[in-house]
Amino acid sequence: MQREHRPSPREAAFPLGAKLSLEQLRSDPHPTLARLREHEPVSWVPALEGWLVTRHDLALEVMRDAEVFTVDDPRFSTALVVGPSMLSLDGLRHAQHRAPFVAPFRPAQVRARFAEVAAQQAELLLDRLAPAGAAELRREFAGPMAGSIIAVALGLELREVPSVLAWYEAIVGSVTSITAGAGATVEGEQAVRGLRARLERVVAGDPNASLLAAAASRSGLTNEEITSNAAVLLFGGIETTEGMIANAILQLLELPEQLELLRRDPQLLDAAIDESLRLEPAATVIDRYASAELALAGASIARGELVRVSIAAANRDPAVFDDPDRFRLDRANGRRHLAFAQGPHVCVGIHLARLEARAALAALLRRLPGLRLDPQRSAAPQGLVFRKPPRLDVVW
Ligand code: HEM
Repeated sequence: MQREHRPSPREAAFPLGAKLSLEQLRSDPHPTLARLREHEPVSWVPALEGWLVTRHDLALEVMRDAEVFTVDDPRFSTALVVGPSMLSLDGLRHAQHRAPFVAPFRPAQVRARFAEVAAQQAELLLDRLAPAGAAELRREFAGPMAGSIIAVALGLELREVPSVLAWYEAIVGSVTSITAGAGATVEGEQAVRGLRARLERVVAGDPNASLLAAAASRSGLTNEEITSNAAVLLFGGIETTEGMIANAILQLLELPEQLELLRRDPQLLDAAIDESLRLEPAATVIDRYASAELALAGASIARGELVRVSIAAANRDPAVFDDPDRFRLDRANGRRHLAFAQGPHVCVGIHLARLEARAALAALLRRLPGLRLDPQRSAAPQGLVFRKPPRLDVVW
């Protein structure tokens, strides 16, 4: 006989959160997130082993208060693999790790260093794809675009992109293994050593030769600390940027009338990118740990508990965005989305990511005029933390 599951007092207080499954969040999260946002904006979700924050104002409150909601916790799996970096530190040490990267990632510096190379890379990739009349754009276009630009930023040669991607896969595997409680993998440890050794040569070289060397030359960080931060740039530069580009292409191809508006007025490209980031942010959730016992929107959070901010939910909050589930190029406040987070950990790569997406989409729309989704294959986005279509099959 099966015992009935007796809800704990917390589960009874947050019935929607108690019922939430990882599968719902992975495949079709938006209807569930909308219900949570309305009825349990800070909810205890046993499937996530933590609290889930879904309202825009509360998301901002958590992201902006790094003293109370910290990333600096021994459970942070990325730090266990690549060492402490700006992503896993708070307070003074966070500021020290982040400071050297701020200037090289400013808009003017990013434009000067990357505008030409991003446009060239997009053309090169499309030269290869165009004759076939069909492609899988996530792995054949968005991924290589993101991989090549971050390789350049880190001072590596384009021919090194395959080894960069191999290191990256091994590091991701190790982070996943630690998250699952199985410890770091041997491949992950080797990849971190290989990446560090290669990047140390960049750091020792000409400070003007790459964004990484420029950052290193102005920092008081050790080589090990610089290369830990470079590994974090690699994560941001590949996983989320590939998703950002793939999600934007998908959404435009699903909405032919919006695509037509954009084709007629290329000035709308930035609005299209923001609207896509709002509706399907490539990083859907960020994690913090409560450094003290506290109350947030009626929830009593204990010290040390995991607090997860759903960027995907905050980005569709009707209190901020009218008609929040609709893709609208004429949205006046489209930039208030939180796809790049906010507060002290706001994404350092925003301007580079935007520049890459702009170059990729502009070239794609110009070079492949009859572009449409392959009707035979699904391209629905998936993912619990990083969300993008597993495949993006198109024809033209
Ligand atoms: C060139 C591409 C990118 C690079 C180099 C990059 C790099 C970084 C770095 C280094 C951080 C940590 C900043 C800190 O903790 O002080 C960060 C944070 C973040 N990035 Fe990016 N990123 C890129 C693209 C993206 C994209 C495309 C997205 C989403 C669409 C994204 C979303 C985020 C978010 C949400 C955070 C906050 C993480 C947290 O607070 O826990 N990034 N990024």
